[in-house]
Amino acid sequence: MLLDNNYQLLEKQRQNELFPELVLPQEHRFPKPQYLGAKYVLKDWIAGFFPANAKKALDGFGGTQSISFMMKQRGLQTITNDLLAFNHQIGLSLIENKEYQLSQSELMALFETNNKPSDWSLVAQNFSGLFFDEATAKLLDNLRWNIENLSNPYQKAFALTIINRAMMRKTTMGHFAHTRALVYAADPERLKRNRSLARPIKELALELLPEYNAAIFDNKQENQSFCGDVLELLPQISNIDFAYFDPPYCDSHSDYQSFYHLPETYTEYWRDKQFINQTKRYDPPRYSGFDKKRDILSSFEELFRRSENIPVWLISYNDRSYPKAEELARMIAKYKDVTIEAKEYSEGRGGKGSVAGSREVLFVCKPKTQVSVAIAWSKEMASGIITGRVF
Ligand SMILES: C[S@@+](CC[C@H](N)C(=O)[O-])C[C@H]1O[C@@H](n2cnc3c(N)ncnc32)[C@H](O)[C@@H]1O
Repeated sequence: MLLDNNYQLLEKQRQNELFPELVLPQEHRFPKPQYLGAKYVLKDWIAGFFPANAKKALDGFGGTQSISFMMKQRGLQTITNDLLAFNHQIGLSLIENKEYQLSQSELMALFETNNKPSDWSLVAQNFSGLFFDEATAKLLDNLRWNIENLSNPYQKAFALTIINRAMMRKTTMGHFAHTRALVYAADPERLKRNRSLARPIKELALELLPEYNAAIFDNKQENQSFCGDVLELLPQISNIDFAYFDPPYCDSHSDYQSFYHLPETYTEYWRDKQFINQTKRYDPPRYSGFDKKRDILSSFEELFRRSENIPVWLISYNDRSYPKAEELARMIAKYKDVTIEAKEYSEGRGGKGSVAGSREVLFVCKPKTQVSVAIAWSKEMASGIITGRVF
């Protein structure tokens, strides 16, 4: 049996040397995320609209990187970006990174006690008794210092990715915009449904390790992960064949910094912020431009203007967001021909933006083929039977 396995392995290596194109990156699976608005469940549907022959793609609001990962799997040179640093760490470790993993012993070593500086106690100071018990909060500070001292930036990003994910698994509903974490973690009924709430961070991290390690691969492209406002990134990048934009759904749980302040604080280990409200969210938050009604129209206008030279745009949207999809289509039609694809959520996935019965919309925007465009939002869209209407 062992001989058989060895033979198969050698045969596979030999094939790969002879025909490097036979190394199929599709073998690598993206670890299932837990994030409001993540497109993990829609990734195959969305990837079905990636233009054929594209070589370089942008994921402007990368989040968990589930769509960037599809781009990478398709062999595209992938540029990903997110406003938040903890999402950028996922981008560094799973999109930009070609090879660096963490072994089980390397991960275990990060849990060893160290001589961290006395002022390295952000988690214990702010979140002990709120999201974690005191011992776990201290362990997280200790762990964070060990991660800080990793010299390989990809391993550092990878470790942060795993620990942030473990923290989400340990917290009720996977986010940090509530104060019930410890109460629920002690509730036997809740524990029956979700045992992870009471499991140690170390155990959760070790469990996550194999699937994250298995997601690291080289697609033979120079992929890049950025952290910042997509509007600032756009003028700095060129030769993009298509862009995927999945902005926060304004008016529909779009405040990512309230939901995920803790992984962001853990990643940044803020020294220059205040920790406010009952959830101890950091303050001031970063400026998004896409999460408040007062900014959203001008942000979209600027997004489209700055993306004008990118031939194809795919834009995820939801029919409960502001502005209404019709209005957004009108704004896009100034630059591109738009086709609208829609998919109904059969079950809620957390967040008003994805409740059962709401529809996920994909604007497929291509270079203009006609001079004037008639905008006629049809009644069909509202009644749920439309797919693929051209504007
Ligand atoms: C709907 S989520 C993206 C989900 C992602 N497609 C996925 O599958 O996980 C929107 C993301 O936009 C990010 N964001 C908000 N404002 C941004 C900005 N100005 N530039 C870039 N990213 C921004 C948020 O941090 C959030 O991760």
